[in-house]
Formats: sequence, C-alpha cells, structure tokens
Amino acid sequence: MPTPVPHGDIDYGELARLGLTPHDIIDFSANSNPFGPHPAVLAAIRAAVTAPVLRHYPDRDCLALRQAIAAAEAIDPALILPTNGANELIQLVALAFIKPGSRHLILSPTFGEYARAVQVMGGQVLPYFASPPDYQHDVEQIAALIRRYRPETIWLCNPNNPTGQYLSLATLNELRALAQTEALWVVDESYQYFSAFEESLGRHWVATGGETNLVVLRSLTKEHGLAGLRLGFAIAAPERIERLRVAQPAWSVNSLAQVAGVTALQPAVRAEQRRNITQLLAHAADLWRDLADAGFKLLPTTTSYALIQTGQAALTRQKLLQHRLLVRDGTSFGLPEYVRIAAQRPEQNRRLVAAMKEMEVGSKKWSNS
Ligand SMILES: Cc1ncc(COP(=O)(O)O)c(C=O)c1O
Repeated sequence: MPTPVPHGDIDYGELARLGLTPHDIIDFSANSNPFGPHPAVLAAIRAAVTAPVLRHYPDRDCLALRQAIAAAEAIDPALILPTNGANELIQLVALAFIKPGSRHLILSPTFGEYARAVQVMGGQVLPYFASPPDYQHDVEQIAALIRRYRPETIWLCNPNNPTGQYLSLATLNELRALAQTEALWVVDESYQYFSAFEESLGRHWVATGGETNLVVLRSLTKEHGLAGLRLGFAIAAPERIERLRVAQPAWSVNSLAQVAGVTALQPAVRAEQRRNITQLLAHAADLWRDLADAGFKLLPTTTSYALIQTGQAALTRQKLLQHRLLVRDGTSFGLPEYVRIAAQRPEQNRRLVAAMKEMEVGSKKWSNS
C-alpha cells in the first residue's frame, strides 16, 4: 500500500510544536525562487480579488493561460494542458496511462510522487537506483534495464530532484536509441530554469518530431515563487493532452492562478525572473564553494540545490532547525546520509554555513559522535 510522500518545505505542525512560525525560519528545504513572485504578478492577483472573479467558476479551458504558455514556449496551444501544479499532472499521467499490474521504470533517486502515483493505480515500480558514490544516472545501464523489462512508462526528472543531475538532449537521444522502446516517457522539467542548461528537450521532441510517446511536466510555481498558488502545465501530443484533460477534475486551476500565470509569462516579467534565477545560480556556486571549504562532501549538481553528506540527515535537519534553518532530510529519497540544500540569498547562505561549521556536522565528526 503506497503511503503519503514526505516533502521539503514547512511542516506547519512541527513549527507549531516548536513554538515557531514560518517567518521565524529560513527555508533551504524547498527548491524555489527565493526572490518570490514578481511585483507585476502580485499586482495582477490583487486586482483579481473581486467579488465577480471569486463568485464565478474559473475558466475550465484556461484559454488566456494556454495562449500565454503557447506564446512563451512557441508551440501550438493544442499541445498544452494547464494544471494545478506539476504535482497534479503527475497524478493525471498515472490516472490516464497506468493500468493495474503494468511495469514502470522510475529513474531514482528522485521525486517521491512518481512512485506513489504509479502504485496508487496498481502499477509495479521496477527496482532501479543510480549507484553511489555520486548517484548519477548511467545511460547504458538504464537502456539495458529497459530492453530487459519492457516498462510501459519511464519517468525521468530533468534536472533531477534531489541530485541536480542534468541529461542533455544528446544524452537523452542516445538513451532513447539504445533503449528501443515504445514506452511512454514522462519527463519532469519542473526545474528546467534552475540549471545552467535551458534547453527543454521534452519540448523539442514534441514540437519538432510530432512525438507521441512523451509527456513533459512543467511547473510555474518554482520559477515564479508561486508554490502556495499552484500552477503547472503539460506539453504533449494532442491525443495525450486530451486523455489528461479527461482525467483532470473540472476547475482544477483556480482563477487567481490563471491570472498569475498570464502575467508571469509576459516577456518582461519572465526575463526579470530569469535574471533572478541566474543570480541565484551564482549565489549557489558560492554556497557550494563555502561548504566544500568547510570540509563537507557535496554531490555534483547543475542546479541551485545540492546534496550534502552529513552522516545522519535526520539529526542534521533537527539540529539546524534549532538554529531556525530548515533543510531537507534525504532519507525519503533513499539517501539517509544526505541533506538537500536549496541556495537562498547570500546573507542567508552565510548563516547556514556558519551554523553547519559551528555544529560540526561534517561527515566524519558527525557520524562518529
Ligand atoms: C521534481 C518535482 N516535480 C514536481 C513538483 C511539484 O511541483 P508543483 O509545485 O508545480 O506542483 C516538485 C515539487 O517539489 C518536484 O520536486
């Protein structure tokens, strides 16, 4: 029986037990844009908080939002389905395409919602976990597994959560050629803009090849700091989009999220958010350097988040929370020696490094204590 998936971000009950509020802590546990929503997006949401907007149901077809996404991605609106965050889309893919008893490959360690969604539908998850010490995917090993077990879907997070590994278009094309499969590829590009690589290979396949065995998952909540509002979208061939749409509850994307999305996707707003994330990647590089200088082992990452080996992740998280710093315990990813840290603003990153040095959570000192 699948169980709910642990996540990063704030555990409101835990904070209440500690006598803290979300304002008291710095959150390094969720991978999101620390600069928050663009002022134009906030203004658009405020302007939309009117009795008529709230009294009516949202536009079921998200017409304006689909047009805005299509313009931003330079693809046909028929290839797009807006959703209540990328997370809803994960569940819709499972609902639409997974049959009880069928086999599925999830390139792990990765986001826990994929396995849960597959299992809720009665699907079987094949055993695969990238090898230590770096937990980077090996294309030949994966292709051999696919040829052997013939899974019906293959789930890939790119860049990956939690490792930050990015597979380029060339590498993915190589993987597909080696795998020789008719399987449905589910490519989660929620963190596409949180890596130095901006190429959306999923979009490339769908838009240029008329590719039908592919669903691309995208999130607007991370890039635009809108996790509390929920907004994502699918890119896929029209027949796949139609099956996802049938699986989706009516009015899933609320009116304020639709307004926020349309504004967030305006070229000037996108460009500014993109500049913020480029800055974030520079702050992240400084943070990785400072942690490495302090003696911590980091796994290679292309993103603004990274896995840091501290020996006992649950204990590290607990200790850092006493300093009002929240990090993600890697245990539920199958990595109980690692915490995942998402870089924040420079002064906040410096506080984390200072606390980690003070606590001596370096792998050796910590695991021997
Ligand atoms: C890989 C991945 N996909 C999807 C999601 C969910 O994104 P959203 O907030 O758009 O639902 C997350 C959230 O942490 C994630 O890490």
